[in-house]
Amino acid sequence: MTSSTPESLSKFVQFCNQHITGQERKEAQTFLDRFFRAFGHEGALEAGAKYEEAIKKGSKTGKTGFADLVWKPRVLIEMKKRGEDLNKHYSQAFDYWTRLVPNRPKYVILCNFDQFWIFDFDIQIDTPVDKISLEELPARSGALAFMELGQKTPIFQNNQVEVTERAARRMGELLLELEARGIEKLTAQRFVLQCVLAMFAEDRQLLPRDLFVSCVQDCMNGSSSYDLLGGLFREMNLPGKTPAGRYQGVDYFNGGLFSRIDPIELTREELNFLDVSARENWSKVRPAIFGNLFEGTVDKKERHAKGIHYTSEGDIMKIVRPTISRYWEDKIEEASTVKELGKLQIELQGYRVLDPACGSGNFLYIAYQQLKRVERMLLEKIQSLNGSEGQQMEMGLVTPLQFYGMDTNPFAVELARVTLMIARKIAIDDLCLTEPALPLDSLDDNIVCEDALFGEWVKANAIIGNPPFLGGKHIRMNLNDEYVDRIFQRFPKVKDVDFCAYWFRLAHDKIDEKGRVGLVGTNSISQGKSRIAALDYITQNGGYIHEAVSTQPWSGAAKVHVSIINWCKDKPRKYYLDDLVVSQINSSLKSTVDVSQAVRLKANLNKCFQGVIPVGKGFFVTEQQVTDWIKTDVKNQDVLKQSISA
Ligand SMILES: C[S@@+](CC[C@H](N)C(=O)[O-])C[C@H]1O[C@@H](n2cnc3c(N)ncnc32)[C@H](O)[C@@H]1O
Repeated sequence: MTSSTPESLSKFVQFCNQHITGQERKEAQTFLDRFFRAFGHEGALEAGAKYEEAIKKGSKTGKTGFADLVWKPRVLIEMKKRGEDLNKHYSQAFDYWTRLVPNRPKYVILCNFDQFWIFDFDIQIDTPVDKISLEELPARSGALAFMELGQKTPIFQNNQVEVTERAARRMGELLLELEARGIEKLTAQRFVLQCVLAMFAEDRQLLPRDLFVSCVQDCMNGSSSYDLLGGLFREMNLPGKTPAGRYQGVDYFNGGLFSRIDPIELTREELNFLDVSARENWSKVRPAIFGNLFEGTVDKKERHAKGIHYTSEGDIMKIVRPTISRYWEDKIEEASTVKELGKLQIELQGYRVLDPACGSGNFLYIAYQQLKRVERMLLEKIQSLNGSEGQQMEMGLVTPLQFYGMDTNPFAVELARVTLMIARKIAIDDLCLTEPALPLDSLDDNIVCEDALFGEWVKANAIIGNPPFLGGKHIRMNLNDEYVDRIFQRFPKVKDVDFCAYWFRLAHDKIDEKGRVGLVGTNSISQGKSRIAALDYITQNGGYIHEAVSTQPWSGAAKVHVSIINWCKDKPRKYYLDDLVVSQINSSLKSTVDVSQAVRLKANLNKCFQGVIPVGKGFFVTEQQVTDWIKTDVKNQDVLKQSISA
């Protein structure tokens, strides 16, 4: 046999029903071997998979974990006993996957003998791309096509990335249409975001069923969108439930996004955009990549000038897990009494996270989701020590109001607020929480439009983010002279460094002895003047880099290589560099040679030097100007040179 057939898969299901009782330890390997055979292999080992692959854990206990099956570079399979809630094992699966370098498997399957949860962490970090039950396997094997001998492309039913990209692009296009016909920028942005929130709310049952879709339909049939959508947004801003009429049942959302309503009379074409978008399944939209909406609407020139790039969810996790969630998981694992756990509860309630270049709020969103998982883990441990497992838990410790952001782009700030508002409802649905979803939190005081280099930073326990990159030599060319002079006044000793280096310094200054930071930077952050300004500053002032990626290609559109750096002031127990355990990490992001104190070799003096780099657009003149100037005075040709650059 060379591939799966409905018969081979049905035979596997039959075998499991007859012989597998669902005990993790005893039966996992038999189950997995038969699983491989169902897909046309001679067996798991024959296919090249390994059982019980050892993986070092980073917690205090320093234990080694064992992944049940690793088949590089295709899949990691982690088995749990029958009936086990697979949600609880997400963090373990994610950590194993992170550590499986080189040649990391593309997919991860969490399985409790009855359910297969398939993850593709590269694109969708917290939600399986598909869930299949054992009985469904013969009919739904397309989602497991990567198990086949020929390795076909799998088709997943829960690919939220595609839905999000489509919905975000359309809304971005609507925004551009509105701006193009002269609607004031901020008015158009707010209106589009109000529509986004309403569509999300409708598909997450926060608005009466089909209310928004039917309003748009009525507008397509001749009603006024100025009246209908304006009226809906006004009701969303009124405390209490609308008792009757067209908007009956609409609850109070909040006084942030809806505090100002400027209705717009949409054209036929604009209504078409909205109609198609409204029919999308917004409950599948991933707020963490709402940045696409943002990206699609920000002018390309402006993006380059301000160093605006976007971070994938996988890369965000390389910050959020080491800096926030793994720190909490270790603390919960170490606590052994209800009293100790009670202390952690209080600490968690007061815990604050800041992103000082938050863009559309993607880091904050993922940090919130991760801390909600942490909260559940903590409460479950308290329940198990109290002997009250299974009871409904009140989970209101972590709220979006513990998350703070700063950004100079007003639209990004609005978007980040909406992203975090949505976050709470998604956590309520995913974790089956009892807390009320409405009104949404008003985050106007948490996420602010401010320059992080000059504004006040909220005192936070964790600082995370992806500050803007801009090579030292380009700063003056892209930001204006007056602004650059202000920066130099504020940081007199820090010049000619990548723009992001200022965030590294400030973040280090702003955290206390227990604080933790994780930032993305260009990979020049571990070289030359940027390293001296940023990473040397950290390591020479009580900081320890405990987990870093030395360099990797950027996941976004920009053609740059980045470094990902997590550090703290408390001496760490373990260091991870490029996903491998090392004994230390220096400011050059190496575990061995520390070049930060290296001196120049005299022998190299005057042998090699950097050519002229014009710092400012004023150095470039047109060919016509050159001809005119030489005509005026032939001596000018001595100083007018052709510029060649790569
Ligand atoms: C690389 S983006 C990261 C945004 C977001 N986290 C992401 O991954 O898409 C950098 C962000 O820094 C913001 N920014 C640029 N200069 C800033 C400043 N002086 N203060 C605060 N934010 C700034 C930009 O507007 C942009 O949103």
